[in-house]
Amino acid sequence: MTKVFSGVKPTGRPHIGNYFGAFTRWASEQDTGHLYCVVDLHAMTVPYDPEELRTRTHELAAWLLATGIDPDRATLFVQSHVREHAEATWILDCVATMGELGRMTQFKDKGGGRDSVSVGLFNYPVLMAADILLYHAEEVPVGADQRQHVELSRDIAQRFNHRFGETFTLPKATFPPAGARIMDLQHPDRKMSKSDESPQGTIDLADDADVTRKKIMRAVTDSGTEVRSGEDKPGVTNLLELLSAATGRTVAELEAELAGARYGDFKKQVAEAVIERLRPVRERYAELAADPHAVADTLAKGAERARQTAAATMADVRARVGISA
Ligand code: AMP
Ligand code: TRP
Repeated sequence: MTKVFSGVKPTGRPHIGNYFGAFTRWASEQDTGHLYCVVDLHAMTVPYDPEELRTRTHELAAWLLATGIDPDRATLFVQSHVREHAEATWILDCVATMGELGRMTQFKDKGGGRDSVSVGLFNYPVLMAADILLYHAEEVPVGADQRQHVELSRDIAQRFNHRFGETFTLPKATFPPAGARIMDLQHPDRKMSKSDESPQGTIDLADDADVTRKKIMRAVTDSGTEVRSGEDKPGVTNLLELLSAATGRTVAELEAELAGARYGDFKKQVAEAVIERLRPVRERYAELAADPHAVADTLAKGAERARQTAAATMADVRARVGISA
């Protein structure tokens, strides 16, 4: 059985891009050797509100459960509940180099060369390496933007093993199939991301059916009238891919069926398919939100399970690097 680890940051509200691009994939591939983590420590690298972090961490975990992550099979937990992540980060900090961290494009983009950014932002990929290496993960499902971070985790693991003896498994990133990227409904040339940046272009999981319908009906389409995918039709292509993701049918099948359809009717069909697909997830979320203790309990059990592996790895690491057990 392949060991898998992935994480998601509790920043912003989760949207249907996260759902179709990551959460459903995690849920459908989940197995007993898989760990899924709400990485709250990673959400602290830029200014934030503590109360909001607490709430969003809990809500995101509830959305993952609502999506179908089964805590009796996969391990679902919150990063900060397992203290070994922070401890491993320090030790790996002494193996990672300034040069390799300085080359991370995410740091360069987000840091913008400013002196005022936190050391945590710089150090972000080492914490991510700790997440992955503590559990000997072989595969790390991520979006393409995280490829560099997973490769760095691999480099750090290799250097550690070379210096201190075989300790860590070398992980590799895996990526969603093409088409799993949902684009912004108002700007189909960029991927759907947090709703504060593009409220009309982003459908939050927490949006209700009416809001979902309105946003899809107002999505930008392209010139011409044909419902088909193609580089000259980014808006229609995105809606076709959304329809495909919501129905499980291929874009080619949908194109054939929709030949001759009007944009308005096409959008109506996309809206209803997305609403139907999300209905049970939203209902399940509402149930979980009404019972916060049950979610907290599930997360406590997940952390306990994760800690067993993390603690064993750290015992080995401490012995190898020459610090007290
Ligand atoms: P983020 O919201 O950027 O922290 O991403 C969390 C997870 O959702 C990552 O695995 C991303 O690759 C995935 N994701 C984010 N936005 C999209 C999108 N628009 N389409 C598909 N997957 C996405
Ligand atoms: N950095 C990842 C992102 O922004 C989130 C993350 C943190 C992660 N730790 C991880 C992903 C470990 C995979 C494995 O999406």
